[in-house]
Amino acid sequence: MKKVLIIGSGGREYSIGFFMKNEAEIFYAPGNGATSEFATNIDIKDFEELALWAKENNINLTIVGPEAPLVEGITDVFKKHNLIIFGPTKNAARLEGSKVYMKNFLKKHNIPSAKYIETNKKEKAYEFIEKMDKLPIVIKADGLCAGKGVIIAESKEEAKKTADEMLSGKAFGEAGKKIIVEEFLDGYELSMFAICDGKDFVLLPAAQDHKRLLDGDKGPNTGGMGAYAPTPLATPEIYEKVKEKIIKPTLKGMQEEGSAYEGVLFIGLMIVDNEPYVLEYNVRFGDPECEELMPLIESSVYDMFYYGAKGELEKIDVKIKDMVAVGVVCASKNYPYSSSKPAEIKIDDLNSCNGYIAYAGVKNIDGKLMASGGRILVCVGYGKDVKEARDEAYKIVDKVHFDGMQFRKDIAYQAIK
Ligand code: AMP
Ligand code: GLY
Repeated sequence: MKKVLIIGSGGREYSIGFFMKNEAEIFYAPGNGATSEFATNIDIKDFEELALWAKENNINLTIVGPEAPLVEGITDVFKKHNLIIFGPTKNAARLEGSKVYMKNFLKKHNIPSAKYIETNKKEKAYEFIEKMDKLPIVIKADGLCAGKGVIIAESKEEAKKTADEMLSGKAFGEAGKKIIVEEFLDGYELSMFAICDGKDFVLLPAAQDHKRLLDGDKGPNTGGMGAYAPTPLATPEIYEKVKEKIIKPTLKGMQEEGSAYEGVLFIGLMIVDNEPYVLEYNVRFGDPECEELMPLIESSVYDMFYYGAKGELEKIDVKIKDMVAVGVVCASKNYPYSSSKPAEIKIDDLNSCNGYIAYAGVKNIDGKLMASGGRILVCVGYGKDVKEARDEAYKIVDKVHFDGMQFRKDIAYQAIK
């Protein structure tokens, strides 16, 4: 049997392994308390050591889940050891690691995005802010800030103050010492995911996620409280435009930069007057979007990643099921503010439900599955349309019990009016 190593420990990584476990023997570094039910968890953190382990254990394919190891260069290390790994190199991962790099790349290659300036000087930021004729104004820190580095300022004063706080290092340290100031795009957001092999790509169904903690998109931002795919908001025309105006020039541009892009390209889009604009790139799957996308893949999940990593996507035909998946995140009591006491998870019989559970912040303690993180698990329901899939997802939520469990009750509301 083929052997696959998955890097990461969240619901995203769980779902990748879960939908591949009939095709390959799965290993996780580090995995979680539920991945150990169908795979082997490995406790090696150092990239060199992990690559040597992968060689000794004849791993056929390594898949990287989170952005941090990619930005730190895990792909480069594995490639140096002639291992097959799915994920961009350190240089290519700058598309997510540096907003300044990304915006300059978009401009250079004529890829639609909000008008902006990049600067490390307060005076230049002020001058641009003064000249902007519309509010709000968007200020972004250059580096990775755990999803908090984007501020939408409602007035010019607030925009200046925000720019100041970032540039002085007060807000985000080094990550904010260069900033982007850009115009606000008023439309609706979509997430698209392309499996890329450096030159070719496969575009997966578009998703919408729910970043805020509370119903009605209120409360603080989180890693994501739920998502669904495909979303009817992405029309065939939008898919076409995204392929032609965004993905093709991105892959060509990255080749020209000498950093051919291999891995998942996660495109955060704003659709304004039926035209897609790039808000951001991520160099990995979204979490919880991945948990809804994996069950939609009808053809071999292993092949999709393997041929992606080999630069041979043209050899396969990725087939997508005619189905919708809706995922509802169940989080611990104090998420996203602080951690909660580990709580035992009890799951009732799921036989009557159409879907699955992707486990994230869980530990196995003395044979018991314990909630031990922020986002604990994702209940994913399937259906012929969004409503049916949403109802199945909430049927699964009803079967999940742990102390302090919180979840949103309105996932996919944008598609059910
Ligand atoms: P980013 O990390 O760049 O995707 O920004 C995080 C969130 O801020 C996005 O998902 C949008 O909701 C919002 N955002 C970022 N840039 C803009 C913009 N230029 N116009 C409107 N909203 C934006
Ligand atoms: N769910 C959004 C993200 O993973 O960034």
